[in-house]
Order: sequence, then C-alpha cells, then structure tokens
Amino acid sequence: MQRTDDGQKIRLSDYRPPAFLVRHVEMRIALHDGHAAVETTIHARRAEGADPAEPLVLDGDHLSLVALALDGTAIDPRRFDAAPDRLTIRDLPGSDAFALRIETRLEPETNTELMGLYRSNGIWCTQCEAEGFRRITYFPDRPDVLATYRVRLEADHEAAPVLLSNGNPSESGDLDGGRHFAVWDDPHPKPSYLFALVAGRLDVLRDGFRTASGRAVDLAVYTEPGLADRATYAMDALKRSMAWDERRFGREYDLDVFNVVAISDFNMGAMENKGLNVFNHKYVLLAPDTATDADYAGVETVIAHEYFHNWTGNRITCRDWFQLCLKEGLTVYRDQEFSADERARTVKRIASVHGLKAQQFPEDQGPLQHPVRPTQYREINNFYTATVYEKGAELVRMLATILGEAGFRAGMDLYFARHDGDAATIEDFLRCFADATGADLAQFALWYDQAGTPELEVQESFGDGRLTVSLRQSLAKGAAGTGTEPMHIPVRFGLVGADGADIAAEPVAGAAEIEGDVIHLVTAEAEVVFDGLAERPRLSMLRDFSAPVTLRHEQSREDKLALARLDPNGFGRWRALSDLLGEALRAAAVAADEAPLDPRLVEALVECAAEERLEPALRAQMIAIPGESEIARLVGANVDPEAVHRAREAAIRSVARAGAERFRAVRDGLSRSGEPFSPDASSAGRRALGNALLMFLSAAAAEPAEAFAAFRDADNMTDRMAAATILAHRFPGSSEAEEALDRFHDAFEADPLVLDKWFTLRATVPDPATLDVVRELSRHPKFTLANPNRARALIGGFATGNQRVFHRADGEGYRWTADRLGELDRLNPQTAARLATAFRSWRSYEAGRREQARAALSTLAARPDLSRDLRDILDRTLS
Ligand code: ARG
Ligand code: ZN
Repeated sequence: MQRTDDGQKIRLSDYRPPAFLVRHVEMRIALHDGHAAVETTIHARRAEGADPAEPLVLDGDHLSLVALALDGTAIDPRRFDAAPDRLTIRDLPGSDAFALRIETRLEPETNTELMGLYRSNGIWCTQCEAEGFRRITYFPDRPDVLATYRVRLEADHEAAPVLLSNGNPSESGDLDGGRHFAVWDDPHPKPSYLFALVAGRLDVLRDGFRTASGRAVDLAVYTEPGLADRATYAMDALKRSMAWDERRFGREYDLDVFNVVAISDFNMGAMENKGLNVFNHKYVLLAPDTATDADYAGVETVIAHEYFHNWTGNRITCRDWFQLCLKEGLTVYRDQEFSADERARTVKRIASVHGLKAQQFPEDQGPLQHPVRPTQYREINNFYTATVYEKGAELVRMLATILGEAGFRAGMDLYFARHDGDAATIEDFLRCFADATGADLAQFALWYDQAGTPELEVQESFGDGRLTVSLRQSLAKGAAGTGTEPMHIPVRFGLVGADGADIAAEPVAGAAEIEGDVIHLVTAEAEVVFDGLAERPRLSMLRDFSAPVTLRHEQSREDKLALARLDPNGFGRWRALSDLLGEALRAAAVAADEAPLDPRLVEALVECAAEERLEPALRAQMIAIPGESEIARLVGANVDPEAVHRAREAAIRSVARAGAERFRAVRDGLSRSGEPFSPDASSAGRRALGNALLMFLSAAAAEPAEAFAAFRDADNMTDRMAAATILAHRFPGSSEAEEALDRFHDAFEADPLVLDKWFTLRATVPDPATLDVVRELSRHPKFTLANPNRARALIGGFATGNQRVFHRADGEGYRWTADRLGELDRLNPQTAARLATAFRSWRSYEAGRREQARAALSTLAARPDLSRDLRDILDRTLS
C-alpha cells in the first residue's frame, strides 16, 4: 500500500531540533515465512531545554502496533495514540531517561515498494534511507537523532544461514526448532536511515584489509548462491577505495568487519548502511562475458562511493534532509577523484562533465529545477537528483579550485575533526573551510541556494600585444524561483600559442582577480587584460570545466578548430570539438536540413581518432557524436525529434565517409587478438575506440556484415554489446540484426543483468516500429514491473534512450509510458516517480508533441490514487 498525497510541504525554515534524544536502541527481529516480529527498545530522554509537556511523537509508515511498554510496564491506552503513521505518547518523564519498548509485526513478502524490510529472491533485506526505518518500527526517524544499536536477528537456519546487521558481530547460536540467532553491535552512534539487516542463503567472497594504524578488517561480499566469483572486481575496488581514503584524506575504517551484499530488487544503486552496504547487484556482479567496461567502471565508482560515505555521511551525517548534498555531493566528488586517480584524470573528467550536461543541465533548466540545497519538498525521495549529487559534487570541486589543494585539505581535516559524530549542515561545512583558510565564503554559499545554470559570456579582443577578455555572468530565474545574484565563478583558462604550448602572460591589474590559471569572477561583469603578447593566443576557457555554467564564448571557428588540435589541456581539446559538433548539429536540427558537416571539423575528428600519442579512451570521447537528447537540449525550444535524428545521422555519415580508410587502419592497429580480457582502463579505452570506429565503418559501408562478424566473434560483453547495438540500431529489421538479438537473448536469458541489456537494446531502436516492440516486450514472460532494474531497462530505456519513438508525433510513445508508470506506481512509487522524470523536458518540443505530452501527463495525473512520489513529480512537471 502506497502513501497517497496530502499536498503537505516540508520546509527547511520549519526545522526544530528534536524534542527527545535516543541514546541506544535494542532490537530483536524474528524472521518467519510470511511475517517478521520486531521488538524495539528505545533508550531515550527529553532533550535539554525541551518543553516538559511535549508528547513524544514517533514516525511510522503503515505500521500496526502489537504492544507498548514504558520502563517495563504496559502503558495505559489513554496515554497514547497509535496510528499507522504516528505513535504519540503523552505524560512522559520531564528529564529522566526512559526505555520504551515497541512491538510491531511486518509482512516483508508483500512489501513491493522495497522500502523498509522486504524480501528479494527470498533474501530478507532493508532499505531505510530516507524514511524507511519508520516502516519497521515507530521511531524519531530523522537524521539528527543518533544512537548506538544492538540488534538480535532470529531465523530458520535453512532459510537464512547468514544473518547480518550493522557494526561488529557479537554472539550467535542455535535455537529450538531449527532456528538460530546472531547479535550485532554497532558502537558508532548513527541515525536510523543507516540501519540495515540482511538474512538469507548467500554465498560469500572473503578478503581482508589492514588499516594504516594496524586494525585488521574482515571484508566480505555476499551474493545470491553461485555468484560469489563475480564479486572479485568489487572486492578489489573496495580494497583500493580503503587505501585511497587513507592516502588522500587520512580516513581509516572503524569497525572489525565491512560487509557488502548484492541484492536483485533494489530501488537505486546502493546504500551506505554502517558496516553493511547493500547494493543493487548490478553494481557488484561482473564477468567479462556478461558485463561491459562501463559496468566495471560503474561498480568501481559505486563501491568507492558507498565506502567513502563511512566518513562523509555516516561519521558525519546530515542534520536534516535538506542538507542531503552535504553527504552526497561531497561523496560524489570523492568517488570522482578516486576514479580520476585510479584511471585517467582527463578521461574521467570528460565523462563526469558529459554526465552532468546530460542529466543535471536539463533538470536545472526545466520544471524540476531545485537548488543544490532545496528549501522545501513534498517527498524527499524525489530529491536524490543529479542536482543534489552531481552539481553538489561540482560545488565541492569549485571549493577545491578556489582554495587550492592545501587549503581544501585543511578545510576537510577540520571538518572531520570538528564534526565527527555530528549531524551537520552546509553552513557547518563551509565554516570549516573559512576557518581553516581565512577565506570569505559568503558569496560562494549562494551556489547552494540559487538554482539554475549560470551563463558565462566571454568576449575577447586583441591589439598591440594586448588581449582583453570580458566576462559576464547571468542567471535566469527558473522554476525554483530562487535568487539570481552574481556568484563566485572560478574560471580556469590558458592562452595557447601557435606551437601548442601555453603562453605565460602577466595579467594587467583589472577588475577580476587572477590566481595562477584561475580567474575569480565575483561580479556580474569583469575584464582581464594580458599585455606583452608577441602573438594573438587562442583563449582556452573554463578548462576542466572549472564551474558548472553554460559557456558562451564568442570565438571564431578557426580558433576552436585550432584548440581542438593544439590545446595542451586534453579537456580543452574535447570541449572545442564537442562545441563545434554541438553547434553544427543544433543548427542542422533547427533548419531541418541534412547538410554535411564542415569538412574542417570532419578532418579534425578523423585526425583525433588517428592521433597515436593520445590515449584511445580520450580519442573515443573526442569523436563521439552528441546523442539525440543532447542535441534536443541545445535546440532548446520547438524541438522536432525527427529533424534531430536526421541531423545526427547526416553528421555520422559525413564523418564515416571521410574517415573510413583511416578508421579502418586505426581499428586494425588496436586489435590484440589472443590476449585475455582485462577490464583495466587502458584495455577498456582500446575497446571504446575500436567500437566507436566500428560504428563509423558500418555507417560508411551502409551494411551490417562487419558488425555482425564482430558480434559473432566477440569474446567479451563490451564488444558483443557494441556490435549488437550497431546492428539493432542502424540496421533494424535486417536478418543480421534479428539473428544477433535472438542469439543474445538465447545465450543470456537466464542472466537477469544481461537480459536487462537485451530489453534496453530493443527498446532503444530508433525506428517507429519500436512502439509495437515495447508493447510486446511488456508481455514478455521475463518482464516484470516488480523488479526495478527490469522496469528501468524497458520503460526507462524507451523513455530516456529512444528520443525518436518516445516523442512520436502521434503521442503513442507518451501514452504507453504514462500507462506503464500508472501501473508501476501501485507497486513501487519511488521507481515510478524516478522514471516519470523522462517527461521533464516536454515543454521544449514542438507544439503538436507538447500537446500530446500534456494530455498523457494530465491523464496520468487525474488518477485518484497516485502515490505522493509520483504526484509530486507530475505536479511539478505540469506546473
Ligand atoms: N545514499 C544512497 C547513495 O547515494 C542512496 C539512497 C537513495 N535513497 C532513496 N530513497 N532514494 O549512496
Ligand atoms: Zn551517496
């Protein structure tokens, strides 16, 4: 049963400290087939200064109370009210500590929302962030109430030989009737959203880690039976993460065990529960034959992310959910830095920026806009967004740029020292950096409160050895309606000489402050002048994407082409090319023509593909043609997805034809046949480039033979998937495509993670007939809305990965999607709401489609029984 909406908003300005504090929690959870009996003892007392007459109000969510006792005695029923969503107890002692014992009874088997305690393939598991603990017991379920926990689990030995919870294992033993128990002690005070348990028949991969100060930690990754051998890369990533956090941030692990569990049915990526991280199995299980290089990179990132939360999230948590970016933005920054150090920095940065533009920019520029720190919400689960996570990480990155490496580290050290054990705020966080460095961060703080993507306009002029650069920032008011004050924008730059080296030029004192290679733009407008230049340099702006802004640099195509070839900053070369491509595709899509690309741009792309001294992964990124949704975003208004599709296809053909010969030679040179598969970054980069070239070669040949041969001969999932995508997407209906899809299906039908890929592959074919295909797929025996990965593979694959068909002019794509969301909402509101964000850019389409989308959304919104999650997204999307 989902929660329906009462329209209530929670506001940051209403924050009040808790009236009661919990010191310690004891739980006894007895798991049975069909139900779970939960006994919770909350050791609490009234907070200092709190009103002695205030009742104790505990959160619940669809709970039913079995029994209630205070300090060992049943409470008079006149003293409490037990509603499904709230337990109110009156006349509690003024300031003495008390022990409240609560019994609840749950049905994990019928929990389809996958929040609280549920069963996934028979395994009992929990998800409590953000507000799932209140589905297990009545509790002050808010992140600023921290307590130690002692948890006793009991279950049938057969059904659940493994019993896990947070902290360190304590006693365990047998009970009557084939049952057994295990007790877990978590000595670190934590908020309830970090509680977890897992129980079931699980296989395990074990390893160990010794921390810098000598603590021996037992590491374990648990999987469903028979899959533990697919966890070796995850384990390796975990050990590397632990070592990196010691090296880079001086952070050590703090328990005797660290457990990771891979679960099939999971609403998101993973969860950082103290000492017991629970993962979507997609982010744990890997094998060369079933996982792509992107999957390997994803596992590394998510393993690191959840591990890093142990300090940024668990030891220091959030005071309230408005501060979510305090842990998420910071932890994404840390996982990005980890990947940059473990792989290749420039490649990682380009991938992050590409992701930011694809996910966060449209959110920040549409109806779901919100500041990195929101000030109100109806449903907190809808704020686990690209803005909170990815833009949140960009803000931390800017802080590091502004303060420099040493200043940033000093601020982090102070944050860890000062706030360990606290539930903190963004103000607390920023104050540490201000106190550690003396910097004034008042203006910087605006980044957390002002929603939207600032525009940064740059103009340059050159004469008499002087380069004058004018900068102007502006921020439009968007859906969030937040402020538009000028912010502190760190702009990293370089002046590139004709020989491809940076020119060291002294800035003439001006309005903007320059420190090294960073211009600090703190006013709406500023000018910087460089003098004594022997030649006119090419200005490479916003290197490494030093701020999350839209750059409008009035720069000639010649300069951009030169930077694409010469910029010593790899990111700068990528940006020059992606700007040129983006502009060409935008113009073609607007004009609805299929003009070939500027031959000089084509030549630059072909040159890059063949440039031996560049690592292949970077070359693959440089020659990538922007996707259709990216082009649609650049068009911005009255988008015609058919024109976008044709413009993109024409661009691919221009590059393919001009480059075919060189591409062939480069691709041949990359092949290392006979070498065993290795997922390392440079091998993955070679595969990425080889497969990008295969796409162009197939487009040039206009026939599927080569891709089919590549599919047939592939000895790993990366190459197989790339070839299958070329066949299915570029040659739909061909016998080669059909055969590849069938073989793929038959070979991997029993492997859910690979079958998800097959669903997505078919749902993303940019051919009008795909609508019938997705209809048919939703009746496939292996399709189910109950598994979030499967629902995302088909519905999400279609709605976000198939611009041409989702946005069909007749509105059928919108209606099919909206109908599925309505069905899914009854089972799993959180996943339905997440998938509904596929509609967020509906207003930027041409009038006919706009009307169709509005109608489909309105029909869905008119259903009387929608969840709070989906209703919130629909209301904001339509408003
Ligand atoms: N804290 C988790 C992570 O990012 C995600 C939890 C998301 N929870 C939710 N209800 N959406 O690592
Ligand atoms: Zn996180």
